[in-house]
Amino acid sequence: MNESWDTVAAVDPQALQDAALNAIAAASTTAELDEARIRYLGRKSELRQALRGVRDRETGMTLNAARERLESAFATREAELERAELERSLSDAQVDVTLPGERLPRGHYHLLTQMRREIEDTFLGLGYESFDGPEVEDAYHNFDALNTPEGHPSRSVLDTFYLNGDVVLRTHTSPGQIRFMETHEPPIYMVSLGRCYRRDTPDPTHTPTFHQVEGLAVDRSITLADLKGTLLQLARILFGPDREVRVRTSYFPFTEPSAEFDVSCFLCGGAGCNVCKHSGWIEMGGCGVVDPNVFDSVGYDPEAWSGFAFGLGIERIAMLRHGLPDLRLLWENDLRFLEQF
Ligand code: PHE
Repeated sequence: MNESWDTVAAVDPQALQDAALNAIAAASTTAELDEARIRYLGRKSELRQALRGVRDRETGMTLNAARERLESAFATREAELERAELERSLSDAQVDVTLPGERLPRGHYHLLTQMRREIEDTFLGLGYESFDGPEVEDAYHNFDALNTPEGHPSRSVLDTFYLNGDVVLRTHTSPGQIRFMETHEPPIYMVSLGRCYRRDTPDPTHTPTFHQVEGLAVDRSITLADLKGTLLQLARILFGPDREVRVRTSYFPFTEPSAEFDVSCFLCGGAGCNVCKHSGWIEMGGCGVVDPNVFDSVGYDPEAWSGFAFGLGIERIAMLRHGLPDLRLLWENDLRFLEQF
């Protein structure tokens, strides 16, 4: 660099200092202040150039004193402006709570859980108590206490999952009847909902794991009419207010008499269609009057008490209600399917 001596000599430290102080005072943002700092204290500023050209001690001291004063004035102003800017940004950045929020994806209960809760709620509303039995059962509760003798086909290793010896995965929710009666005195109004297991090859209407609802009522003079009224209520909750129910004789070891119950077709109203296979009726489950042998196994007096029981598959109800083509869809956890319900 070869600034001429004349330029350097022309610097008036006092005038320079006054001009710089004015600029500092006038700066209303830190950006403006930075500009002023570059202009008055930057490498190419008059003051720096003059300092570089200093030849005598007195001029040097004067210029340095001016530099120091300006540096401290810049620092003071900078702190002021930064505080003001912070305060402004804090008061400007108020949250507008009326702005629409970000939508987060939201899950929901699996269709089977929804159905379980709906059925459970129906019975809680009728004054029933809900009971959870174990899925790993012993053969006594799953079969013997339910009047199902040794050698009955349902006990076959081809139908039932035996874990070891007499320990099985329950094949129905009926052992819940026994466990509940073992621990409660009548009158009893109980529902039990849960998973059951059978050695079925999966196909559109069978899965080896499935869900059932069990109902049990034990009181002084329970009759088939009470059973039918209860089933009618259930059918109407599940399939609509105009449904009718019919019972057909059948056989279960733990009920006598036993029946299967049907609901009038919710699609055609009984006229006949594909869903009811043109019969006007749809099979729902099994039921009957509690067999005295079952009361014997839990120590109830069959002369004093009578009761009814019923059981039905939850998947089947879901299938009918939603027109599902294949029960296995309920177990595959494909969200494109599940999101529809
Ligand atoms: N447990 C029977 C089944 O799984 C259904 C049933 C329950 C029948 C209660 C009568 C009474 O098929």
